[in-house]
Amino acid sequence: MTEYSALLVTGGAGFIGSNFIRMALAEKPGLKIVNLDELTYAGNLENLSGCESNPSYVFVKGSICDKDLVLATIRKYNIDGIINFAAESHVDRSISGPEIFVETNVMGTLKLLQCAKECGVKRFLQVSTDEVYGSLGKEGLFTESTTIKPNSPYSASKASADHMVHAFHHTYGMDTVITRCSNNYGPYQFPEKMLPLCINNALNGKTIPVYGDGMQIRDWLYVYDHCTAIMEVFVNGKSGDVYNIGGCNEKTNLELVRTVLRIVGRDESLISFVKDRPGHDRRYAIDASKLMSSSSWKPSVTFEEGIEKTIKWYVDNRAWLDAVCSGSYRAYYEKMYSRR
Ligand code: NAD
Ligand code: TYD
Repeated sequence: MTEYSALLVTGGAGFIGSNFIRMALAEKPGLKIVNLDELTYAGNLENLSGCESNPSYVFVKGSICDKDLVLATIRKYNIDGIINFAAESHVDRSISGPEIFVETNVMGTLKLLQCAKECGVKRFLQVSTDEVYGSLGKEGLFTESTTIKPNSPYSASKASADHMVHAFHHTYGMDTVITRCSNNYGPYQFPEKMLPLCINNALNGKTIPVYGDGMQIRDWLYVYDHCTAIMEVFVNGKSGDVYNIGGCNEKTNLELVRTVLRIVGRDESLISFVKDRPGHDRRYAIDASKLMSSSSWKPSVTFEEGIEKTIKWYVDNRAWLDAVCSGSYRAYYEKMYSRR
């Protein structure tokens, strides 16, 4: 097993990246974590409050597209591993403005790979998504050999990045691994995504916009379990391989909304069916048996526990939620939902 001394974590001020950094600081003492984040609308240093005082943690503000900065950062901190979380991550935004998704997710990943190669970084992990596989019918699961068939500009940009990572492994012999996870939920998720949006609206007695018939299916995994799986693949995954990550928790969107309303103590009159998302993928479901049979990783949190914990976190952190929902979020919400 290769030992690592300093990890460059990109996009570490976002939802999953910040949860990953908290997990890594707690569970890998002595491992230096350098967080490179541009702090877009989705990046929030509040997600890492308390980490600043940890001597193993460093924050660098900047973009993965800025090669000079990335090279300088890798050299300054003797980075020997990179985990790339940085991305534009919201499907609806990719539908109204795909360009930034290509810039960040494709060009940014390419530049990061070039810098890693130039500096001889030992391993590069690309955090990808199950959405690169496209949409499932009623039966079946995504495996690592399912054909890549992305449907949204977001998933197309993530699939392109995956292909580039594979090309760097195949052509230049770089040590790379790719993880493809299902939908995450948990603390610090920006409320443009379904679950925190639903929790926020339910807490405030506002209607919850459900796209189309609400019978689309997603496979939900508690964010901490995604983070431990990423660490497992980073440390022990086979070079050049792809690993699916998922929790076997398929829920329709309506089931999810009803669960939140029940826990928050609101009635179903808050459900509002609105115009569907164009090109909406019907069903995602992950077969994570490759990772589970090659390691001791398994989800540690059931959906029932995870959803209770998550809602409690948002209730206990109303100040965080109110702060991220002020300012530009209001304009976004108005634009996205007022005439839907
Ligand atoms: P997020 O939108 O919450 O966070 C993205 C972070 O990347 C933000 O902190 C943002 O400031 C940063 N960023 C954006 N552009 C950047 C740039 N050019 N340079 C540096 N930083 C930049 O996203 P998330 O939900 O935490 O997702 C993280 C990763 O996991 C993404 O790659 C996403 O595709 C993948 N993923 C997400 C899910 C999910 O359910 N959220 C599931 C599977 C995979
Ligand atoms: P989302 O959180 O955007 O994740 P993804 O599209 O990447 O799976 O959406 C999860 C599901 O919830 C998806 O089927 C779209 C649906 N959805 C709604 O019905 N209403 C909403 O306001 C949002 C944001 C999503």
